[in-house]
Amino acid sequence: MDTKTQVVEALAKVLPDIEVIDIEAKIERPKDTTKGDYAFPVFFLAKQLHQAPQQIAQDLLPKIDQKGFEKIEVVGPYLNFFLDKVTVGAGILDEILSDPANYGSSNLGDGGNVSIDMSSPNIAKPMSMGHLRSTVIGNALANILKKVNYNPIKINHLGDWGTQFGKLMTAYKMWGSEEEVTADPINTLQKYYVRFHQEAETNPELDEDARAWFKKLEDGDPEALHLWEWFREESLQLFMKIYDLLDVHFDSFNGEAFYNDKMDEVVELLESKHLLQESKGAEIVDLEKYNLNPALIKKSDGATLYITRDLAAAIYRKRTYDFVQSLYVVGNEQQNHFKQLKAVLKEMDYDWSDSIHHIPFGLITQGGRKLSTRKGHIILLEVVLNDAIDLAKKQIAAKNPTLANADKVAEQVGVGAVVFHDLKNERLNSFDFDLEEVVRFEGETGPYVQYARARSLSILRKAGNPDLSDATKKITDPNAWEVIKALGNYGDIIQKAAKEYEPSVIAKYTLQLAKDFNQYYAHSKILVEDDEKLARLALVKAVSDVLESGLTLLGVQAPDEM
Ligand code: ARG
Repeated sequence: MDTKTQVVEALAKVLPDIEVIDIEAKIERPKDTTKGDYAFPVFFLAKQLHQAPQQIAQDLLPKIDQKGFEKIEVVGPYLNFFLDKVTVGAGILDEILSDPANYGSSNLGDGGNVSIDMSSPNIAKPMSMGHLRSTVIGNALANILKKVNYNPIKINHLGDWGTQFGKLMTAYKMWGSEEEVTADPINTLQKYYVRFHQEAETNPELDEDARAWFKKLEDGDPEALHLWEWFREESLQLFMKIYDLLDVHFDSFNGEAFYNDKMDEVVELLESKHLLQESKGAEIVDLEKYNLNPALIKKSDGATLYITRDLAAAIYRKRTYDFVQSLYVVGNEQQNHFKQLKAVLKEMDYDWSDSIHHIPFGLITQGGRKLSTRKGHIILLEVVLNDAIDLAKKQIAAKNPTLANADKVAEQVGVGAVVFHDLKNERLNSFDFDLEEVVRFEGETGPYVQYARARSLSILRKAGNPDLSDATKKITDPNAWEVIKALGNYGDIIQKAAKEYEPSVIAKYTLQLAKDFNQYYAHSKILVEDDEKLARLALVKAVSDVLESGLTLLGVQAPDEM
């Protein structure tokens, strides 16, 4: 039983004439814990009972069943309830240990489908830190939503069509070679891309040529199509390496090119609904009543645009998945694009346009500087992850030189550190990336949480991993309460993270739980032989279960030893 229900039931028994929901609505959770875990103000009864509030509280007190409470006090017109921490705590520990994998689950989503547009890097360019953010935030949201019983569908809307292909083809034809691309695809393609932009500044013919190549591609020219497929395949293979490292998997790789043959229908629909207007030869949808710039659907040369593809994608997803929510985990700089997308769908009379949510996030900077692919300042994600793994390896070698599987653990710690660092920040905040800080074992880091869990497992091993299922889980040591209370909040925390689309809620929770646990461990001897030893070990086990669960929701692995 939830601890608030316990208070409601105790009061309902002595207030038979008052509706239970009214009692429930009045119960408060005092900030100051000296006023109890819950407080019940009785003012609202004064009129009905023709008595002074203070008197009412005094009269009720002796009638209330004290079971499950340490004490109940009257302070003025308030009844203050102090939970019997020992009994309540044992209940929480029992619940966790009886089914650790499901602890914290709920049925908020009732099985509804949620499509999540995430990662979505651009082919022939390196995956940027921004795409890393989209990947890890999207993946964590998918895990969190699943835990509250939604059915997430992870879609990688690859940027695999667009003028960048024209530029690449021009560059490849002028300066490239097949051997060079095959040997090191992304870096080579990136090099062509950067060189194209440098030279195009003084040579406008390059832009002309690139436009012509892209036109050929759109018209289905075999050579252009062949090059496109080749560039796409090579890039995708490298992206897959990163997804494997991050252990992120997708349900669909339908990218922009997938909608090539699905945009005519969108344009026809817009026409039939009289939403298209001509403006300087281009086709637009006016969005003035939304206070937005017009959505440009078709350029004067007939080329379709980013938003046209997104309209086709949104309609396709609704038809294919019948989603209850459709999320787009994309940087905050595209806010306007998603407002326009929603507004156009609304104008098309799709009532489901309200279920579309842009989940924006802030920038990652380095030394305070914004990163841009065009100019080539970009941190290559693969390099970052590999550097993090190397740094983790060094730390492990210093801390635990005899560790078995040290390489595997270094990967879990290094990659986990990068992912955790990203997720602990509220997603809209921008943050600076400093690798040394990210991989530290102390402070607000992923390795700190992983380490707290590994330590709890090592305590259990030292105790010989006893069977805890039938052990009484009552702990009288007051130091244990903060930890148990935090464990009891886990389900609420997950729901909050799901409702706010905010993985940082979980990341912050795991940091706090790890900190509370370390503090408890510093003050209380766990392995001492007394009546409560098994109960304390049950607490240790519950902490390790919940930390593992929280890290897993974030997409961070939890090594058993480190
Ligand atoms: N490829 C785009 C970019 O890197 C992100 C695509 C986001 N998804 C979408 N459906 N528009 O900026």
